[in-house]
Amino acid sequence: MLTNEIFNKSKKFYVTTPIYYVTAKPHLGSLYSTLLADIAARWHKLNGCKVFFLTGTDEHGQKVAEAAFKNDMAPQDFVDSFINDFKQTWYDYGISYDFFIRTTDENHVKAVQSWITRLKENGDIYKSYYTGFYCTPCETFVTEKDQVDSKTPDCASCNRQTSLVSEESYFFKLSSYQDRLLNFYEENPDFVVPNERLNEVINFVKQGLKDLSISRTTVKWGIPFPDDSHHVTYVWADALNNYITAIGYGNPAREEEFNFWWPADLQILGKDILRFHAIYWPAFLMASDLPMPKKLLVHGWIKINNQKMSKSLGNAIDPKILLDKYGADAIRYYLARYMAITQDSEFSIPDLEHRINADLANDLGNLLNRMVTLAQKKDLFEIKAPHNWGIKALALRDAFWDTLELFESEMEEGYFYKALAQLAKFISQVNAYFHAQEPWREKDLLKFEEVISATCHSLYCVGILLLPIMPTKAAELLKSLGLNFELKEDQDLITELDDNPWNKTFILNKIDNLFQKIEIQKQETESAAKPQHQVVFEVKPEITNITIQDFLNVMLLVGTIESCEGIKGSDKLYKLEVNFGSYGIRQVLSGIKLQFAPEQLIARQAIFVYNLEPRKMMGLESQGMILTAIGFDQALHLVSPGILVPNGTRLK
Ligand code: MSP
Repeated sequence: MLTNEIFNKSKKFYVTTPIYYVTAKPHLGSLYSTLLADIAARWHKLNGCKVFFLTGTDEHGQKVAEAAFKNDMAPQDFVDSFINDFKQTWYDYGISYDFFIRTTDENHVKAVQSWITRLKENGDIYKSYYTGFYCTPCETFVTEKDQVDSKTPDCASCNRQTSLVSEESYFFKLSSYQDRLLNFYEENPDFVVPNERLNEVINFVKQGLKDLSISRTTVKWGIPFPDDSHHVTYVWADALNNYITAIGYGNPAREEEFNFWWPADLQILGKDILRFHAIYWPAFLMASDLPMPKKLLVHGWIKINNQKMSKSLGNAIDPKILLDKYGADAIRYYLARYMAITQDSEFSIPDLEHRINADLANDLGNLLNRMVTLAQKKDLFEIKAPHNWGIKALALRDAFWDTLELFESEMEEGYFYKALAQLAKFISQVNAYFHAQEPWREKDLLKFEEVISATCHSLYCVGILLLPIMPTKAAELLKSLGLNFELKEDQDLITELDDNPWNKTFILNKIDNLFQKIEIQKQETESAAKPQHQVVFEVKPEITNITIQDFLNVMLLVGTIESCEGIKGSDKLYKLEVNFGSYGIRQVLSGIKLQFAPEQLIARQAIFVYNLEPRKMMGLESQGMILTAIGFDQALHLVSPGILVPNGTRLK
C-alpha cells in the first residue's frame, strides 16, 4: 500500500490498458495494447513522474460462462486457469505494471456494488424492461441504426445471428448525458488521440443516445446487483469501473490514494472499444461526480494477411513463440515502431526479420560493436570528452537536440512510432558521422578520441531514449558504455539529456552483439512461399536490349529521405528532401502519398534515379525519381539497398 508521502508528489502519471477477456491466453493483439501502456509508463518514469500502471482481466459475462461450461469447469476455475498465462506473458515481455486487477476480485465487486447503490439513489440507475436483438458473443444489443428492417439483424461487429430478448433490466440514464457529453468533447478536442476518431464518437452521440441496459437476469456469472441479486451487472458497467476500483474507489480507507491517482492521465484501448470508453465511461463518471480521464489513446488492429488478428478467427499469434525466436525487446521494438497506432498494421515475419537485421543488428548493434572494438584496439578504454568539439561533432550534438525535441513531443502525444522514426533518423546520422570520419584511418590520437567520444555520447543519448521501448537491450547498451543504469527516485533523465553539454566520460566494455542477425532464408519466407493474392506477372512480348553504356548513363544513387511533405492541391504527391551525401541534397517529387505515411519514409534509405531530367509538377521542380516495387502483399514498397550504405553510393 502507498504511503502518505507519495501523495505529495506533484508529477504523477496514471496509465491503464483495457482489461482482457479470459477465454484464451493472451495473443499478440493483447500484448500490443499492454506494450503501449508500458512504454508510456516507462517514458513518464524517465521524466521523473510517479507512475501507476494498471492492467488486468475482464472475467464476467455470458461468453465466459459458456466457455467454462464447454470445458466442463466452474466459471471461477476456468478464469483462474488463464491468469498465470497473462502474468507470465507480461513478465516475459518486461511489462512493468503496478497492479493486475481481476473483475472477480472482492474489492472490485464491492466497489461496483457501492457505485450502483450510489447511482440508484441519485436516480441515474432505474428498473424497467428491455426488449431488443442481442448478440451473445459480443454481449451487446443491436442498435436501432444497425437494425435495417424488421428481420432479425446480424450483429454489426461480428456478423453472427442475434436473438430477440425481453427481460427486466436496470438501466443507466445515458440519454440524459447527451448534451453534457457533446459539450465535453467540444471543450476537450484532444480527449481522443488520434483526434479524427473523436468525430466518429461525436456523430454517434448526435444521433441520439438511449438509456443503457446494465443488468441481466438470464446470466448468472456476474456481480450481483445490491438488494436485487437475481440481476447481475451487465459487462460494461462492471468492466469500465475497474479503472477506478483498482485505485481505491468506494473504499473510504483509500480515499487519499484514489484522489491522488484519479483522473487517469492516459487510457489505452483498441478502436473496437472506443465507443464504450468515449461515451459510456465519461457518462458513468459524470453520474459519479468524478473528473474525466485526460486522454484516450486509440490504436488500430494488428492484421495478418489483411484480417484482424483474433482468437476467434484462429489467426492469433502466440507471443511466446515470438519470444523464444526473437527475444522480447526486438518484438517490443517492432510493434512500437512499425505498427502505426493511427491505423491497422500488417504483422509479417519476413518484415520483422528484415527490421531486426537492418535497424537493430546493423544500424545500432554494429555501430556500438565497431566503435568499442576500434577504441580497444588502440588501448582506449576510458573515453573523455574533448575540451573543444570539432564542427562535425557539434553538428551531431545539435542533431541530437533537435531529435530530442521531436521525440519528446511525439512521446507526449502517444505517437511512439513517430518518436522512434525520429530516433532511427538520428541513428543513421551517427552512422554517417562515424563512417565519414573514418576513425580507423586516424593517426592523430586526439582526433580519434573525439570521434569515439562523440559516438559514445550519441549512443548514450540513444540508449536513454530506448529505455522505454527496449528496457533490457538499452540497459546493455548503456552498460557497454560504462553506465550501470538505475533510475533514482525523482530523477528526470530527459531534462538531464536536454541540458547535457556532452561532457561525459565513458568506460568501454565489450559486450556480445546487442542483437543477433537473423538468417533469412531466401525463397522460403512465408509470404513468398505462399502468396495470399494471386500475383499476375505481365509478360512483355518484346524486350529491347540496351548496351552497358546505356546502363552506365543512368545514375542510380542511394539517398536518405530527410523530410516528406504533402503538396497543396495534390492528394498523390509528396515533396521529399533527399540526402545524397557528397552529391548534395535534392528535392524529389513522388506520387506515393496514398501508399505511404510520411513516417514510413522519413529516415529511410532508398534508390533513386539521380540524373533524370528535372521536371516541374504543381509548380515545383522534381530532381530525381524514387524506385518502388509492388510486393506479394500487393502494397508498394521502397527499394532500398538492404544494408545501410553511405548516402550517395552509386549502384553498379
Ligand atoms: N474486455 C474488453 C475490454 C474492457 S475494458 C474496460 C475487451 N477485451 S479484449 O480482450 O477483447 O480486447 C482487449 C484489447 O485488445 C482491446 O483494446 C483490443 O483492441 C485489443 N486487441 C485485440 N485484438 C487485437 C488486434 N488484432 N490488434 C490490436 N489490438 C487488438 O474488449
